Amino acid sequence: MDQAEKLRKIVKEQNTPRHISRVITVTSGKGGVGKSSIAVNLAIALSRLGKRVVILDADFGLANIEVMLGIRPTYNLADLMFRGKNLSDIITPGPENIGFISGGSGIQELTNLSKDQIIYLIRKLVELDQTVDIVIIDTGAGIADSVLEFVAASSEILLVATPEPTSITDAYALLKTLNRKSDFSVDDTVIKIISNRVTPDEDGEEIYEKLSIVVSRFLKLKLEYLGHIPMDNSVSKAVMKQRPAICDYPNSSFSKIINSFARQLCDSEPDIVYGKKGIAQLFSNLLKSRIRK
Ligand SMILES: Nc1ncnc2c1ncn2[C@@H]1O[C@H](COP(=O)(O)OP(=O)(O)O)[C@@H](O)[C@H]1O
Ligand SMILES: [Mg+2]
Repeated sequence: MDQAEKLRKIVKEQNTPRHISRVITVTSGKGGVGKSSIAVNLAIALSRLGKRVVILDADFGLANIEVMLGIRPTYNLADLMFRGKNLSDIITPGPENIGFISGGSGIQELTNLSKDQIIYLIRKLVELDQTVDIVIIDTGAGIADSVLEFVAASSEILLVATPEPTSITDAYALLKTLNRKSDFSVDDTVIKIISNRVTPDEDGEEIYEKLSIVVSRFLKLKLEYLGHIPMDNSVSKAVMKQRPAICDYPNSSFSKIINSFARQLCDSEPDIVYGKKGIAQLFSNLLKSRIRK
């Protein structure tokens, strides 16, 4: 049995007939468009709807989710991978029952895993699949290869863009690169566009329309539109207080939209084929391309 087959077997054996988490990956072409703000607040909104939610911070740049939540994790994914820590050690409790996993150096180290370490990691992630309903992955901006690989392995992608022309062209560049990746399969992926920081004189849906036109002409992808978030001071005020906006400014337009996104997402549980479902499967997809033949 080759390595890829072995991984498939571990995921499958332990996955059926049990619970598999829904993985929602938040990404963007350009940095600073609101990915982490959306990931954190959406996690809390989904938790309020009764979902068990964990955020995985796969952005190894700034540890901004930790700052946003005002928490300091003791251990991260690398401690699970290399230092024998368990899932319960690396999931830090956040506000309103959400859990937080810091990728730490673990995301970069994924390239350096031995076969045994890969199998160990996948087994642990199968455990995570069993205990949570939704894993939200916050990625860095999609220029780095490591980010693109995460996005390509995901089944449900929230692509955040702002009305600035550079943000839209960078979002398109990400889609174009994704479309070209050999391990990306269009049919079992949904890509939902969120326009963020939209001012009253801007049209949020226009971002989606512009992207859709070029995407339908040149790429094989299909886009959906989740909606737009207005420019809202409560987001930056909340960051200053190290508190999620949805907790401290529940009536802000930002919080209301995030709540409605959470409801929309719950109403539209995507019917994704088994091959890309769950967090263990995602990592297994990610790692199988790294196994030397
Ligand atoms: N809807 C919004 N209105 C106003 N400011 C926002 C909004 N969304 C995000 N921001 C601000 O934009 C900055 C970048 O947000 P962040 O979530 O860190 O982006 P990313 O994770 O994409 O780098 C932060 O200072 C945040 O407060
Ligand atoms: Mg961020």
